[in-house]
Amino acid sequence: MKIAILPGDGIGPEITKQAVKILDAFDLTKDIEYAPIGGSAFELHNDPLPTGTLDLAKKADAILLGAVGDWKYDQLPREKRPEQGLLRIRQGLNLFANLRPAIMFPELTHASSLKASVVSGLDIMIIRELTGDIYFGQPRGISVNENNEREGVNTMRYAESEIERIAHVAFQTAQRRKQKLCSVDKANVLETTELWREIFTNIGKSYPDVQLSHMYVDNAAMQLIRDPKQFDVIATGNIFGDILSDQASMLTGSIGMLPSASLDANNKGMYEPSHGSAPDIAGKDTANPLATILSLAMMFKYTFKDEAKYLLIENAVRQVLQDGYRTQDIFSTDTKLIGCEQMGDLVVDRLEGSL
Ligand code: IPM
Ligand code: MG
Repeated sequence: MKIAILPGDGIGPEITKQAVKILDAFDLTKDIEYAPIGGSAFELHNDPLPTGTLDLAKKADAILLGAVGDWKYDQLPREKRPEQGLLRIRQGLNLFANLRPAIMFPELTHASSLKASVVSGLDIMIIRELTGDIYFGQPRGISVNENNEREGVNTMRYAESEIERIAHVAFQTAQRRKQKLCSVDKANVLETTELWREIFTNIGKSYPDVQLSHMYVDNAAMQLIRDPKQFDVIATGNIFGDILSDQASMLTGSIGMLPSASLDANNKGMYEPSHGSAPDIAGKDTANPLATILSLAMMFKYTFKDEAKYLLIENAVRQVLQDGYRTQDIFSTDTKLIGCEQMGDLVVDRLEGSL
């Protein structure tokens, strides 16, 4: 199995390093290769996604990405900014299905800003369409209009086939869970999502075992806070999924705990923490590497179909949490504060103990 590692910017290098320690524990570091993406790639090659990086990612069986972005690149022309590296690799590899689980580890129930009774036992899977919608729709840009003032334009756009393929992923994911799927849209206002709703309803007919419901995105935002445990699988478009997945992450205590998988039609995938590059804490050894480590676990589950390794990694994470170790984002006074490196080492230690 060839794994490409793209550390990226900010805390990206330090968190991916902890996941590589896990690969090392499995004796799987022979076939890993590194390549730059985001701001670090811009510094080296004047391009946030150099050809060499895209080629490596195409050749690899799976990709582990840290994070991209830094405020210091905000003034660059858009195509040079770090985020473009991420958007182009998602598009270039056709990674249309983004799986963002929000799982509450029992040890962290009190790290959530919501009442323990609302979030304990929470287990939601958000399925976000990742290569369409207003993120990629044309026309787009800032231009001068007929009144001689500047005007910004983005286009929300989904073709039927794009909605169909993500719908199948969503229904099949629900089949493997509690058979409940909530499709989130804004069909009362936006035609794009009216089509989305129609297609989900039609495809639902071939999944009679899955209970399909529809919800407007504003209501979904409210319900996620009011009663998040009503959800099993949520499926939505790119922009709504971006927002709702950040919101869902905080239910579990910290965005530093949330992994993600971005899959193509053949389950080739790119795995990355749901959080960003946090340049303010980069290099300080305070970042939480668990989202990245759990993303690696997802790689074994979804791309390599190795459920055993997925469970080994997840259990090692649980043990470290049970033993009371916390990075600063999930720290509370009755727990032990540690840094990024030590968190990585402890997970490896617990993992090796069960190998
Ligand atoms: C995410 C991020 C990205 C997105 C940014 C960094 C381009 O917020 O993965 O959720 O908007 O998709
Ligand atoms: Mg986001």
